[in-house]
Amino acid sequence: MSRFGPDPQAFFDAVYRQTPPWDIGGPQPALAALLDEFPPESPVLDVGCGSGDHAITLAQRGLQVLGVDIVQEAIAQARTKVEALPPEIARRLEFTADDALRPASLGRLFGAVVDSGFFHLFDPEVGDRFVSELAAALHPGGRYYLLAFAVEFAIPNAPRAVSQDEVLARFTPARGWRVLALREALFQNRVAATPATCACLERVPPARHSW
Ligand SMILES: C[S@@+](CC[C@H](N)C(=O)[O-])C[C@H]1O[C@@H](n2cnc3c(N)ncnc32)[C@H](O)[C@@H]1O
Repeated sequence: MSRFGPDPQAFFDAVYRQTPPWDIGGPQPALAALLDEFPPESPVLDVGCGSGDHAITLAQRGLQVLGVDIVQEAIAQARTKVEALPPEIARRLEFTADDALRPASLGRLFGAVVDSGFFHLFDPEVGDRFVSELAAALHPGGRYYLLAFAVEFAIPNAPRAVSQDEVLARFTPARGWRVLALREALFQNRVAATPATCACLERVPPARHSW
């Protein structure tokens, strides 16, 4: 069973019948600041993209972006936003309704993966597989931008806490990762803010052996 019951698809479909609490009408400020500090490269994958605000902001900066979300309604909302954009920005955006847990199966290599509130939806063993997929989906030097809750709520259907220690344990040099940024942040929602973990993790090109 997932953190969101026996049918997580049905859970998230139901949330999008109203405006979800995380849909603040723009990008998460902590993630926007991280993206300014450590600029991403195209193409960008936005995992669990929701109604598309992070993807759209990145396209406005000139990047090519694919947003993936499991909820058809979220993708429909993102596509509606795209229709209102100038064509030169709209043509950099693609949104698809799909499972984003297997980024390597998309058959593309990405310069960056943006994750606003996706990784923290899943239990650690699912996270293990996702991080392996990330490593395969990012090209050398590609970056993973993470914003996740840092605290646990004792209520059903809530994300889990992702600590800075967990990030350090997962994204190690031995597994081909370099930590560019790791810090406390806030995850904004429509009523309050939640303490969060924010990180930028880079794929290290494999070392060259000289004989
Ligand atoms: C906390 S929301 C964040 C949405 C968006 N990134 C934002 O910051 O506004 C998590 C999103 O992940 C989506 N999601 C959940 N499980 C998913 C899966 N397996 N594949 C793709 N999207 C998923 C949900 O539908 C939801 O839109």
